[in-house]
Amino acid sequence: MLLKELSSLASPLSAGQVDKLKQLTAELNAVQLAWVSGYLAATSEQGVAGLPQTGASAQVGAEQTITILYGSQTGNGRGIATELAGKAQAQGYAVNLVSMADYKTRQLKQESLLLLVVSTHGEGDAPDDAIELHKFLSSKRAPKLDNLNYSVLALGDSSYEFFCQTGKDFEARLNALGAKSIAPLAECDVDYQAQAQQWQADVLEAVKPLVQSAGASVVSIASSQASSSNYTKQKPYTAELLVSQKLTGRDSDRDIRHVEIELGESGISYQAGDALGVWFTNSQALVSELLQVLELDGDESVSVGGDSLSLREALTNKKELTQLYPGLVTGWAELSQNADLQAISADKALTREYVNNNQVADLVRQYPAKVTAEQFVALLRGITPRLYSIASSQSEVESEVHLTVALVEEVRDGVTRFGGASQFLASAQEGQEVQVYVEPNKHFRLPENPETPVIMVGPGTGVAPFRAFMQERAAQGAQGNTWLFFGNPHFEQDFLYQTEWQQYLQGGELSRIDLAFSRDQEHKIYVQHKITEQGDALWQWLESGAHLYICGDAERMAKDVHQALLDVVVQHGGKSEEQAAQYLEELRAAKRYQKDVY
Ligand SMILES: Cc1cc2nc3c(=O)[nH]c(=O)nc-3n(C[C@H](O)[C@H](O)[C@H](O)COP(=O)(O)OP(=O)(O)OC[C@H]3O[C@@H](n4cnc5c(N)ncnc54)[C@H](O)[C@@H]3O)c2cc1C
Ligand SMILES: Cc1cc2nc3c(=O)[nH]c(=O)nc-3n(C[C@H](O)[C@H](O)[C@H](O)COP(=O)(O)O)c2cc1C
Repeated sequence: MLLKELSSLASPLSAGQVDKLKQLTAELNAVQLAWVSGYLAATSEQGVAGLPQTGASAQVGAEQTITILYGSQTGNGRGIATELAGKAQAQGYAVNLVSMADYKTRQLKQESLLLLVVSTHGEGDAPDDAIELHKFLSSKRAPKLDNLNYSVLALGDSSYEFFCQTGKDFEARLNALGAKSIAPLAECDVDYQAQAQQWQADVLEAVKPLVQSAGASVVSIASSQASSSNYTKQKPYTAELLVSQKLTGRDSDRDIRHVEIELGESGISYQAGDALGVWFTNSQALVSELLQVLELDGDESVSVGGDSLSLREALTNKKELTQLYPGLVTGWAELSQNADLQAISADKALTREYVNNNQVADLVRQYPAKVTAEQFVALLRGITPRLYSIASSQSEVESEVHLTVALVEEVRDGVTRFGGASQFLASAQEGQEVQVYVEPNKHFRLPENPETPVIMVGPGTGVAPFRAFMQERAAQGAQGNTWLFFGNPHFEQDFLYQTEWQQYLQGGELSRIDLAFSRDQEHKIYVQHKITEQGDALWQWLESGAHLYICGDAERMAKDVHQALLDVVVQHGGKSEEQAAQYLEELRAAKRYQKDVY
């Protein structure tokens, strides 16, 4: 039937829909019509409009398909991969976009074109979704990939020792297996936007001679982890801060805040285990200090991302002032011509140590240089939002979202330096606007079955998602046992959400709590010691199917807890060290051992 003959009687469409379809198709040429018909056919097979949400099994004629894989822990890589898929799709390519976690490794041999976006976490480790594929490619089982064309975009942070390591590993392995690179490895730092755009353009140019732009049969498979709202990192929601209240006592040596934010009519939804991304502005005291040291007055006009604004505005809203990065040390060493700084910048380890222990204001104070406003702004990285584990469940707090935020505060040489976002949240006033978005984390989820026992290890601010877990389980009326390990320096000062845990214990929603207040006695007691102490019971819980969660400090706590768990499995499970490692690895692969560490 021709479109002009189409009527609502002869189709499943309403009269209004028929009109709209006729209107649209009248504007299209033959090529566009063919593309749309292919797109709609594929979309209807997937059953969802736009980017359909299906598993990795849906494949189209692999020879003509661009497969885009992403391994992403905190959403950046997923965003870049999704954007690339959209661009490729708009150019008429058949695209298969899939998380590495959902990718069947046996499919590799059939691929002809693979574009990978992968970040690095831990200390040079693969993000959770990429672990299996990363392992597979490094194993003897990895096949020859002589027919594969590929390119990798690596995400990382140059202040880490193993910068973009996972991306480098993928590049090296694909290369060793015989695959051909169509565009060089892109190693992206924290402000990755411009470089990611360039890589997307490069790879789309490079695929032109390799893959036919089909014009039809366009299939795309999107992430099952896409955010459930329209608000994203680039397009955050302007929410209202309700409360920023100190949780720790007056005599505590840390300032930990309970923060409540109202999401209003945004329609934003989140799940227990997700994080909230928070944009922040730099403190006026810090901006003024910088202007004074640099002998600039703040009214100078500078350009940021094509926009012209005052230096003060750029430093307040657009540029990162509290986190240093190696490139700034190098750039400042050149500008200042200071021999000591040049020596630091010539040595990677010294540079890393310097950036971890100093801020931008320290650098410009210690190594004076004469710069223009433009020169200074060009050296600084763009401000990036920080993530916070969500400490509430919408079953209980509805349109609110709660966080548990430790104020980062360091005194060095008599000068107090604060963390950018934590200071912003700690000093925010009731009613103040705050720009936020939800970062879903499907690798930190309560078990589907509410009967399944859960063990939660969350010292310090690591307790945040477990408050969300408990609210969620209480709202569900879940019957499964729950066990919390919590720790902090002092019982009196630092027992975060103490009364809530006590109520959950009384109500039976929390079955057990083990506490480690490290400095309340002569020798330090941490959560890992409590795990060792309760090894027998913990082993019984694991054997009865419990899911195990760790949240909080990645540098020491998560490693020490992992070691304590290995010891428990050896001692109470009667396994060798190797078998114990295998046991925990199997728990991880079965999604029964999940970490949210930072
Ligand atoms: C998935 C995820 C979940 C997170 N959840 C939480 C949470 O629930 N609660 C929470 O408080 N934080 C959480 N964080 C950490 C949070 O995102 C920020 O990194 C933290 O608040 C510091 O940011 P800032 O802007 O205040 O400090 P920055 O401006 O980033 O740092 C300023 C300076 O302090 C140093 N620094 C940064 N953090 C620390 C630290 N902890 N101790 C000492 N020095 C430091 C930096 O190296 C830098 O020199 C989470 C991070 C991730 C990735
Ligand atoms: C806990 C943690 C550890 C990290 N470790 C590294 C690292 O070892 N090397 C690196 O280059 N980047 C590291 N990063 C930086 C991330 O790779 C970077 O933020 C990246 O943009 C995250 O991308 P994703 O959101 O797709 O996971 C780390 C980030 C976090 C939060």
